[in-house]
Amino acid sequence: MSRRDSKLAPDLSRRGFLRFAGTGAALAGLSGVALASPVGAAPAAPLAAALPPPSDGNYWREVERLFMLDKKVLFMNVGTVGSPPIEVVDTVDRVHREVAIGALSAYSDFADVRAVAARGYGCDPDELVISHNTSDGMSKIIAGLGLRAGDEILTTNHEHPGGNVPMAIARDRHGVVLKRVELPVGNDQRAEDYVALFGKVITAKTKVLLFSAPTYKTGTMLPIPMLAKLAQLHGLTTVVDGAHIPGMMAYDFHELGVDFLAGSAAKWQCGPGGTGVLYIRNKVLPQYNPNPLPEFWPVVSSSYPEAGGLPPRSSGPVESYDIAEYLQSIGNGSMAIMAGVRNACEVWDRVGRQRIQDYVLGLSGYLKELVAERWGAQALYSPKDDPRLACALTCFNPFRNSQDVYDKDKSGAFVARLKEQYGIVIRNTDFPVIGMTRHPYPVRISTHLFHQNDDVERVVDAMWKLSGAMA
Ligand SMILES: Cc1ncc(COP(=O)(O)O)c(C=O)c1O
Repeated sequence: MSRRDSKLAPDLSRRGFLRFAGTGAALAGLSGVALASPVGAAPAAPLAAALPPPSDGNYWREVERLFMLDKKVLFMNVGTVGSPPIEVVDTVDRVHREVAIGALSAYSDFADVRAVAARGYGCDPDELVISHNTSDGMSKIIAGLGLRAGDEILTTNHEHPGGNVPMAIARDRHGVVLKRVELPVGNDQRAEDYVALFGKVITAKTKVLLFSAPTYKTGTMLPIPMLAKLAQLHGLTTVVDGAHIPGMMAYDFHELGVDFLAGSAAKWQCGPGGTGVLYIRNKVLPQYNPNPLPEFWPVVSSSYPEAGGLPPRSSGPVESYDIAEYLQSIGNGSMAIMAGVRNACEVWDRVGRQRIQDYVLGLSGYLKELVAERWGAQALYSPKDDPRLACALTCFNPFRNSQDVYDKDKSGAFVARLKEQYGIVIRNTDFPVIGMTRHPYPVRISTHLFHQNDDVERVVDAMWKLSGAMA
C-alpha cells in the first residue's frame, strides 16, 4: 500500500525539529512528535515493557499498576471516559513542555501516528484518522456522504447524540429521511435477530445502515460483520458508531466489512482526552467488501487539493489517494496529544489487543453471571448467552423491587450512593423498550484491563447491599 510522506511545513521538517531540539532529541520514529526532554533526560522506559509474562498469576495486577487511577475509588465507568496509562500522561506532559519551550507548531498529517494506530486496528494509515472523539468522527462521516433529499438512513432507537445530531442535521439540511428499528433488550436474543430486524425494512430508498456497536444504553454488541454483509447485499453504505470499540475489542477493521467506523480513543483505548479513531474504507478488498467505495467528501480539512479536487476513488486493493491525510490535516495540530495517542496504542499492542479483549469480556461475563445469580437473568438488559452480542459493558436493573427501575430519581440516587458509601463509580442509562411506555433507568458497569475478579465481586456485593437498603 503506498502512503504519502508526512507533510510538514518547511520549517517543521523532521530535520528542522531535531536541529531545534538539540542533540538530546529522542528519536522514537515519530515525525515532529518525539522531541528531546527539556531537562535533557531521556524519556522514562515504557512501563508496559516491564510486565511479567502473561502466564504469571500477577499479570493483570501488574497491568493495573500501569495506571494512575485513584486507589481510593473503584472506577467502573470507562464507557464514559478512560484513564491514560502513566507513561502516556508522561509523554503528553513532556511533549507539551517541549512544544511550549520551542513555541513549535505542527502543520502535519501525523502519518507516523496513524501508521502505529492503523497497525493495531487492522487497517492502513490512509484509512485511519485520529479525530477529536466519536462525535467528531460521526459528524465528519455523515456530513461527508453524498446524501440527497429522499435518501434514507436506516438506524436504531438506541443511538447516541453523537450520531443522532449529525443525522438530524442531514435531515433538516438535505431532506434525508431517518428510519429507526426498535432494538430488543435483555438476554433473550441472538445475532441473527438483528439481520432480520434491519433486513425487513430496507427499501430501494435506503442508502445507509447506521448503528452503534455496542449500544451505549444496554451494552449490546450488534453483530457488525453480519450487518455489513446485509448492507453489501443491498448496496448500502455501513456506518458504525463504534465509540467503545477501540481498546476494548481487538477487531481488524478491514475484516468487519464496513465503510466507516467512528470510535473514541479516550474511552477504552485510554488515550488523552479529546481523541478518537475514524476509519474510512479507502480501497476495495473483495474478500471483505466487494462494493464500490461510496461518494465521500473530507468536509473538514485544510489540505484538500483546491486546484483539481479529489481523484476518483479507488476501485481496487490500492488506494487512489490518502483520504485520512486530508481529514487529519486541519490547521495546527497538537504534537503532545498525538504523541499520547501513539503511546496509548503502543501500550495496547505490547499487552496484546486480543489478550485485552479476552480479559475484559471475561470480567464482564463473570459480572453478568453474578448478576444473574443474585438478581435473576431477567434483570439484565445486556445479552449474556450469545457471545456474538457480548461486550465489556453490563447493564441491569439493580433494584429488589423491579419496578423501581422506572424511577429516575431512585436510579440517580443509587449511582450517587454507590459512590459515596462504597467508593464505586458507575453510571445509569435510559432507553425505550419495545412494548413499554416508560423508560427504565438501569445501571451500566464497565469492566476493563485495570480491573480484577475481586473488583467484580466487590461491585456486585456493594450493589446487592445497597439495593437491599433502598428496597
Ligand atoms: C455509542 C456512543 N456514541 C458516541 C458517544 C460520544 O463519544 P465521544 O465523547 O467520544 O464523542 C458515546 C459516549 O459515551 C457513545 O457511547
